[in-house]
Amino acid sequence: MSTIGILGTGRMAVRLARLFAAAGQQVILGSRSPERAASIARGLGHAAIRAGTYAEAAAAPVLLPAMFLRDGMLETLAPLRAQFDGKLLIDITNPFNDRYDDFILPWDTSGAEQIQQTFPRSRIVGAFKNVWWEVFDQPLFDGAPSDVFVVSDDAAAKQEFLSLVAGSPFRYIDAGKLANARFVERMTLFSAELGQRQGYFPRMNWRLLGEKWRPGQADRVAHLIARS
Ligand SMILES: NC(=O)c1ccc[n+]([C@@H]2O[C@H](COP(=O)([O-])OP(=O)(O)OC[C@H]3O[C@@H](n4cnc5c(N)ncnc54)[C@H](OP(=O)(O)O)[C@@H]3O)[C@@H](O)[C@H]2O)c1
Repeated sequence: MSTIGILGTGRMAVRLARLFAAAGQQVILGSRSPERAASIARGLGHAAIRAGTYAEAAAAPVLLPAMFLRDGMLETLAPLRAQFDGKLLIDITNPFNDRYDDFILPWDTSGAEQIQQTFPRSRIVGAFKNVWWEVFDQPLFDGAPSDVFVVSDDAAAKQEFLSLVAGSPFRYIDAGKLANARFVERMTLFSAELGQRQGYFPRMNWRLLGEKWRPGQADRVAHLIARS
């Protein structure tokens, strides 16, 4: 069992507090307003979730900032920098603007990479970026779990993250290196546009379809297109 310090008390923070508590972890739900965090923790009614300040949450061995980059997340966390060294930091950020129609970062970076640069001694794992908030309330689609893309340059940190969420109702897909957050973050913005067209937003998610395969194992036209 570990303790996750969640910084923020918005849509994602509260759902992730519940998810980690249900997975058997302890949670400190930190807020700029500890009274707000205390009232939410009481409302959640889970003995494993307790309230605190950002500093108290940042003292936990695993950190999860649940705020927007556009709201000054990096500046807000700067005074707590020393608390981030060596720790697993679960990064859920999408660098959306406040109209949710574009990014506040250029195309050749990601929220995850900006956080890694700001906290170079943290062990960053990007996850839950592609999961819209209300999905956590009813995570299954047609009875099946949807995907969480997990990115990191630190294989041990990725494994540690997976052990913290074991048993939670998602399929965790190893999505490779941290810089792949560029794709995940953009897929998330695109899913919002697609979902709005379909009338799904925000109840939709990705699920990669596929089956174990060997290229060519049942290619029915290879002989037609082969050149001698
Ligand atoms: N919403 C989604 O579906 C979704 C999905 C995937 C990823 N994400 C990512 O998750 C993060 C949080 O998203 P969210 O939707 O949960 O955000 P939210 O509901 O707006 O909550 C953000 C929290 O940030 C804290 N905060 C700190 N400084 C702030 C400031 N200057 N202005 C406003 N809030 C401030 C607040 O907590 P306190 O008042 O308690 O300090 C607030 O509750 C973002 O990086 C977002 O990209 C969101």
